[in-house]
Amino acid sequence: MQLQNHLIFKPPFLLFCFLIYIGCAKAQVSIPPKPDGFWYHNRAPNPDSVVIEAFFDPLCPDSRDSWKPLKEAIQNYGSSIALVVHTFPLPYHDNAFLASRALHIVDKLNVSVTYHLLEAFFGQQEKFYGRATSNLTRAFVQEEIARFVVDTVGRSYSPAIFGGFRDVNSDQATRISFKYGGLRGVYGTPTFFVNGFPLPDAGSALDNNGWLRILDPLVNKQGSHRG
Ligand SMILES: *[C@@H]1O[C@H](CO)[C@@H](O)[C@H](O)[C@H]1NC(C)=O
Ligand SMILES: *[C@@H]1O[C@H](CO)[C@@H](O)[C@H](O)[C@H]1NC(C)=O
Repeated sequence: MQLQNHLIFKPPFLLFCFLIYIGCAKAQVSIPPKPDGFWYHNRAPNPDSVVIEAFFDPLCPDSRDSWKPLKEAIQNYGSSIALVVHTFPLPYHDNAFLASRALHIVDKLNVSVTYHLLEAFFGQQEKFYGRATSNLTRAFVQEEIARFVVDTVGRSYSPAIFGGFRDVNSDQATRISFKYGGLRGVYGTPTFFVNGFPLPDAGSALDNNGWLRILDPLVNKQGSHRG
């Protein structure tokens, strides 16, 4: 008897959830005009590049710790590697969405300063989450973040940055990055893909040797393929 009840009532409930899900999804998912992400040194890949995709939460300590070795690895290999960073604000990191949005705002203003701002967030993360902001309103924190961004990238950008936080497009762009991560199965940060394949251990930082082990064989093959 109980089992029968279970069978009778479960399908309508699931259908209900599904309809809600479709309703939300329809309102928000649209194909972006260009692929998501910030190319490091504004260097998009050529057909021979090894492509690294990194999903970072700018307020995530593990993302911060993974950045230095990744940056060094890329400097080591030069233009054979193209890196694109996607923002992926984790719901359990306070204000991560606002910090991610700041990156989208700045990237739209000048792609040459996006990574400078990312590094600034990595350097001073503790200002923006946990106890530091637990008694502050979202509006106040947004103001603080906007001020921090202006201090980092320059006074001349001030009106554009404050305006950017009022512009729905920067909100949309930040949502698109998040949805893109969802489509790729990302659930933590940092998460890396190399030539489209996921690296194991999402959420933990690779050290310099880790990157060398992964990239050396790929870059060498790529060279011999070209020669
Ligand atoms: C973008 O930023 C770079 C680095 O700060 C600067 O040299 C360049 O002039 C800026 N470009 C524009 C259009 O503001
Ligand atoms: C937040 O506010 C409460 C109540 O005023 C206070 O007791 C607490 O110490 C504050 N916390 C921080 C982290 O400032």
